[in-house]
Formats: sequence, C-alpha cells, structure tokens
Amino acid sequence: MIKNTQTSSFGVSARIGHNSSKFYNSKLYKDFRTIKQKTQDEQEILPQNLNKIFCHSSENMYELPDNSVHLMLTSPPYNVSKDYDDNLSLDEYLQLLKNVFNETYRVLVSGGRACINIANVGRKPYIPLTMYVNQMMLELGFLMRGEIIWDKSASSGVSLAWGSFRSASNPVLRDTHEYILVFSKGGFKREKKKAKAIKKDSISKEDFMEWSKSIWHFPAVSAKKIGHPAPFPLELPKRLIEFYSFEEDIILDPFIGSGTSALAALELKRNFIGYELNKDYINLANSRINEAQNVLFKT
Ligand SMILES: C[S@@+](CC[C@H](N)C(=O)[O-])C[C@H]1O[C@@H](n2cnc3c(N)ncnc32)[C@H](O)[C@@H]1O
Repeated sequence: MIKNTQTSSFGVSARIGHNSSKFYNSKLYKDFRTIKQKTQDEQEILPQNLNKIFCHSSENMYELPDNSVHLMLTSPPYNVSKDYDDNLSLDEYLQLLKNVFNETYRVLVSGGRACINIANVGRKPYIPLTMYVNQMMLELGFLMRGEIIWDKSASSGVSLAWGSFRSASNPVLRDTHEYILVFSKGGFKREKKKAKAIKKDSISKEDFMEWSKSIWHFPAVSAKKIGHPAPFPLELPKRLIEFYSFEEDIILDPFIGSGTSALAALELKRNFIGYELNKDYINLANSRINEAQNVLFKT
C-alpha cells in the first residue's frame, strides 16, 4: 500500500495524499493564515455586452457588474515605444496598470483568476516589471497562485545583442522568456456547481499534467503576420483558459489588441469580453473573430 507523504527535511520524491500542515503552520505563513475564501454572489452580465470588444480604456469597465467575470487574462502594453505605447514614466505606467487591475478585482467573481503575461524590459538597467506588478497585485488584495515562465526560445530570432562578446567586460543576458503571473480573488477555489448546473471542464489528462508544470515551451507569433505590433500566440490564452476556467465561463481581456484571447475563448466554448483603445485593432480583432466563427460553427 502506498503511504501518504508529509513535509520532511529532505523533501519527498513524490507527493501522494501529501500532508503539508507542518509547512502551512510554520511562521512563514503566520500572516496568511487568516485568509478565508470570501464568497459573494455572482452577477449576470447583460447578454448584449457578452462577446464584444469595447472601444475605451479598461480603467473603467462600467459595462461589467461586480463579481461577474471568471477569468481575466491579458498582456498589457509594455510601454516600450511600440506604436500604441504612450511614452509614460514608470510611475504613470504602473498607475495605468493599477487602475485596470483594480477594476479587474471588482469584476472578478470569488475565486476568479487573473493571469498577466508580462516581460521584464531593458538592460541599462534591466527593469523588473514583474516585480512591480507582483507587488501591486498583492497590494490590491489578490492572492498569488504562481508564476509561469514562457520559454519562447524556439522562436527567438538571431540576436547579436550580447554586449561584450566572449568577454567578462560587460556580457549581456538576452531574455528568451516571458512571465505569466497568476492570481486569485478572495480565495483559490471555484465552485463547480452553480444553481442546479454542474460546470464542465474541457482539459485532457495529458494537457493538465503538462500545463501544471511551471515552464511552458511554445514559440511566439509573427507580429507582421497578425497585423498587430505585439500579439501573443493563440496557444497562450488557450492554455490559460482550459487550465483555469470552465466551459461557458466569461473571459475578460482588458488589453485585447488583435483579439487572440477572444479566438481562444470561442474555440473553447467560453464567452469573451475585451477592451481596446485603438479602433484599427478592434476592426482587426472583429475580422479574426468572424473568420474563426465561420470555421467553428460551419458544420
Ligand atoms: C500587448 S498588446 C495586446 C496584444 C494582444 N494580446 C494580442 O494578442 O493581440 C496591448 C494592447 O493594449 C491596448 N491598450 C493600451 N492602453 C489601453 C487601455 N487603457 N485600455 C484598453 N486597451 C489599451 C493597446 O492598443 C494594445 O493593442
């Protein structure tokens, strides 16, 4: 018979019915011990506001009631002088993100998830945006669930920006990864049962086992091919949606750009809501969505 494992000084090779109470009762977790899942009733979003992209800043998502969205996933502007970037100071930039993620907190249901795809930027010095965003999310009241490293090295172009080549004079790291920071509102769990209905999962056993590992490997997508300066590949929202949401859930992307999150949501039988400032990107997103719908719902 396989015995249950528990926290041990030498670690455990496999975790089976693992008892981690010793770890969670340690002083490290003293300040987190009072966290209890806070449940508030979910509110319905008006049907005419579902599966739509709104053309205004997501700093105010007035179309969405409190406690109405199940999963927020996004890649915010990086403020790195792309076409759509506003040349903000670090403080102004962080304030924009804070406004949007504060609204996200309001609209998420209890146990709802927030996934932020972001990279650190620059070299002289390196600006650890992930550090600022993690700190901000904790201050806004989110609970952190983890951090995914997206290894995109398979698609890294030829970069010769290695500083002093073969010399310790000033060698430079070339980032071939980005992050996905993952948070929850109010508690970690989502209820599977809603009223009389049971929410349906769609993830396969193989995908669950692979995607529950914290390093994901898949290539980036060509900006030129999509027609937006910084799209993420469809694989990124698809994995987050299947791993963190049920079918028919509502998926929000407050910086939706070319609409990749919407495509993933529709393909996986979820609903989407997006926000975007630039009308051309909304047109691009809507034509990608129409095309996908023609393929998905043709048969
Ligand atoms: C990194 S891109 C997102 C790309 C998207 N993931 C995709 O696959 O196309 C960020 C987007 O946020 C938009 N944006 C910037 N500020 C915004 C704001 N305050 N509200 C809504 N959208 C905004 C930009 O126009 C840009 O298209």
